[in-house]
Amino acid sequence: METSDRLEPNIFVIFGGAGDLTWRKLMPALFDLSQSHNIPDHFSIIAVDRVELGEDALRKRLHEGVRKFARSAKTAVKEWNGFSRHIHYLQGDFKGKATYAELSGQCTKLEKEWGAKAQRIFYMATPPSLFGEIPSFLAHAGLAADRERSRIVVEKPIGYDLESALALNRTLAGGFHESQIFRIDHYLGKETVQNILAFRFANPLFEPIWNRRYVDYVTITVAEQVGVEHRGGYYDGAGALRDMVQNHLMQLLCLVAMEPMVSFDADEIRNKKVDVLHSVRPIPEEMVHHCVVRGQYGEGWIGGKKVRGYREEDGVPPDSRTETFAALRLFVDNWRWQDVPFYLRTGKRLPREVSEIAIQFRAVPHQAFPTEATLNWQPARLVMSIQPDEGIVLRFQAKHPGPKMMLQPVDMRFDYRESFATPSPEAYVTLLWDVIDNDATLFMRADQVEAAWRILMPVLDAWKAGPPNDFPNYAGGTWGPDATQGLLVQQGHSWPAPVELEEVRKCSDV
Ligand code: BG6
Repeated sequence: METSDRLEPNIFVIFGGAGDLTWRKLMPALFDLSQSHNIPDHFSIIAVDRVELGEDALRKRLHEGVRKFARSAKTAVKEWNGFSRHIHYLQGDFKGKATYAELSGQCTKLEKEWGAKAQRIFYMATPPSLFGEIPSFLAHAGLAADRERSRIVVEKPIGYDLESALALNRTLAGGFHESQIFRIDHYLGKETVQNILAFRFANPLFEPIWNRRYVDYVTITVAEQVGVEHRGGYYDGAGALRDMVQNHLMQLLCLVAMEPMVSFDADEIRNKKVDVLHSVRPIPEEMVHHCVVRGQYGEGWIGGKKVRGYREEDGVPPDSRTETFAALRLFVDNWRWQDVPFYLRTGKRLPREVSEIAIQFRAVPHQAFPTEATLNWQPARLVMSIQPDEGIVLRFQAKHPGPKMMLQPVDMRFDYRESFATPSPEAYVTLLWDVIDNDATLFMRADQVEAAWRILMPVLDAWKAGPPNDFPNYAGGTWGPDATQGLLVQQGHSWPAPVELEEVRKCSDV
């Protein structure tokens, strides 16, 4: 195992250590970090869970996950053996004091062996219902006392609505100082999402036109082809607005709309993001049906295969009224963005897997070209592809070759795969590294989570008061309910067809 002597000794405790998140994301990411010298010399993982499982059986299962999901999975068994001897299992009840006493004892023992105090990270990879309880037990056991050295990592969902988010944040704050709380939104760990800051603020080119004077509207799309898979039970209590918009899409909105930061300090960046959320124009409950569209997929076809409807999925009641699609029109009321619509949409069982942000620029103020020249003319557009394509495409007008002046849109493209020899790390690798390194820049602060809930509460309230009577209202494999187009058409706008970098490359090769 490769380690780093730059980092302080570390005890990484995972509550839910035998669960799916640990298997699929956390252990592969920690293994990848170990292969790139990014874990300390003195490092120990304590997996805490209720299930009866021997240490060897746990390691075996975790090895399967690593083989399947880690980027450096192809490395020899030697590397795994080196890494896995740092994994220990603590079987215990999450709500039993004895578990925490045992944990505390193990931490003290390790520190004695190492002859040094260790950073203690407590990762909540448990069902959300336990988020509020484990932190209190940790605090009572004195495990949160060292502000500099102990931190807690909480997965989304952070609450079910504003009230429960406030309650959870209060509970967390009861045991941990805000600087010790790392709330994960895995979108922030994606390279392409982090690149939004680099693109906007490391280049002088775009910032001068990144405002209401030049931008007509912005669309943010996070489309998934998959349905709810095996998560019907959880998802049916959440829906698209809570599962995706409150966190991932709001983060993207913040990064696109925020003001330039003054420094790269974690709180400075997070302050600028919170400012955006505070500037979002409140949606009055009676206007929700004008600004927000909800949908649920019925059966349909994707990639030539028939897919079942949401109500037929495992764990979903046959009369479910949970939305699997949401689209919103938002405004950011500040000098930069006044009256520029931001359209957000996300859904499951859409035709393509694609996440992208499109900045649609205004038309030129005066069109001097002859009418015949502008038949194919389109305003300039910048598309930031988050996934699966990773890159940026700038569409602008060029003169079509020939004797006459004819304008035609062309694409200029940046593709991660071509520009950088190394593949982008998995989001969890970046985020876990930041937790170990105590850098909270990519994590959600309490006030940000609460501000995002505040924006969405009128929508949730309106939807609760008037449940849908037309679900399912889009077929699997389509771009959501018809009303989604209406949101933009009312303003003379349209959703852009998603960019495919490969296609753009082919076109520019011609
Ligand atoms: C999760 C949601 O936060 O993000 C899932 O709970 C969703 O429903 C997933 O599928 C999407 O993440 P990604 O990284 O695959 O875009």
